[in-house]
Amino acid sequence: SRSINLAVIPGDGIGQEVVAEGLKVLSAVLPQDVKLETKEYDFGAKRYHATGETLTDADLDALKAHDAILLGAIGDPSVPSGVLERGFLLKLRFAFDHHVNLRPSKLLPGVATPLAGQPEIDFVVVREGTEGPYTGNGGTIRKGTEHEVATEVSVNTAYGVERVVRDAFARAQARPRKKLALIHKNNVLTFAGHLWTNVFNKVAEEYPEVTTEYMHVDAATIYLVTQPERFDVIVTDNLFGDIITDLAAAVSGGIGVAASGNINPSGEFPSMFEPVHGSAPDIAGQGKADPTATVLSVALLLRHLGYDAEATRIEDAVAADLGERGDKPARSTSEIGDALAVRVAG
Ligand code: IPM
Ligand code: MN
Repeated sequence: SRSINLAVIPGDGIGQEVVAEGLKVLSAVLPQDVKLETKEYDFGAKRYHATGETLTDADLDALKAHDAILLGAIGDPSVPSGVLERGFLLKLRFAFDHHVNLRPSKLLPGVATPLAGQPEIDFVVVREGTEGPYTGNGGTIRKGTEHEVATEVSVNTAYGVERVVRDAFARAQARPRKKLALIHKNNVLTFAGHLWTNVFNKVAEEYPEVTTEYMHVDAATIYLVTQPERFDVIVTDNLFGDIITDLAAAVSGGIGVAASGNINPSGEFPSMFEPVHGSAPDIAGQGKADPTATVLSVALLLRHLGYDAEATRIEDAVAADLGERGDKPARSTSEIGDALAVRVAG
């Protein structure tokens, strides 16, 4: 019989609340014969304060045993900036080689957008997840002086670029519109930019049905606001992907509905699914957080593990729920989770 052995990392702030709802919906959607096993891990600010640890080698070994990881959010104002980001989240993405950071943007009917009209937004960003300026390759000299110099080197390898570009082409090929945009800044970042462009053009030859375009990242921020419907699949580097996916979330329903997958396509290590939003300490513990982004991340998790029908049921339930929100009174985190669990079970 089938089974899912899931690592659950609620983390900090609203992470706890939204993950509980994600699990509620996951349990409700799975067929009887699928055995769901979950193990919770206490990573985050509390553990850091108690032990000084963010993510140890033993932790990574334990996580390796799971089929997938569901993460709420990690981060708290009591921890200096960068400690948990680098020591937990990026460490995990790098250790498990999550090179495909998948971030879909879909504006569902009835969902508010700051854009005029109701543009048809339905694209997916394939953000490189293990290279670029995120590698921690840099340094400071003459620190604290007027002559301080800081470098933050962007690392781009032919191997790393090609594998994520290939993933994006395969995704574009599988979608009805078959369009792929490379977003970079190759007029200024001429070393990395040319590597990306050359690899992109080379792989494009193997996908004659995919329509390609290249766009500088600054121009892309304009088009994401003025013509978001032009995008189908986007492939880009780690930092540009970080920035444009927040913009993409803002125009397609907000950070409350933005889901993501940190994917290791080979399956050598478990992939990790998380809402794009952070721990939102200002509203934590009040039942105010929208669990929808986490629930949609659960759908990505299910699709990654081959449960396509169940993933679609969750996405349909979310679409129906959002479509009916209208001017109904606001619901709590668990009320939204309950409503979605009822819908996916029905
Ligand atoms: C994200 C976040 C992270 C990133 C931070 C918290 C390290 O902004 O998942 O988008 O920059 O990747
Ligand atoms: Mn981000």
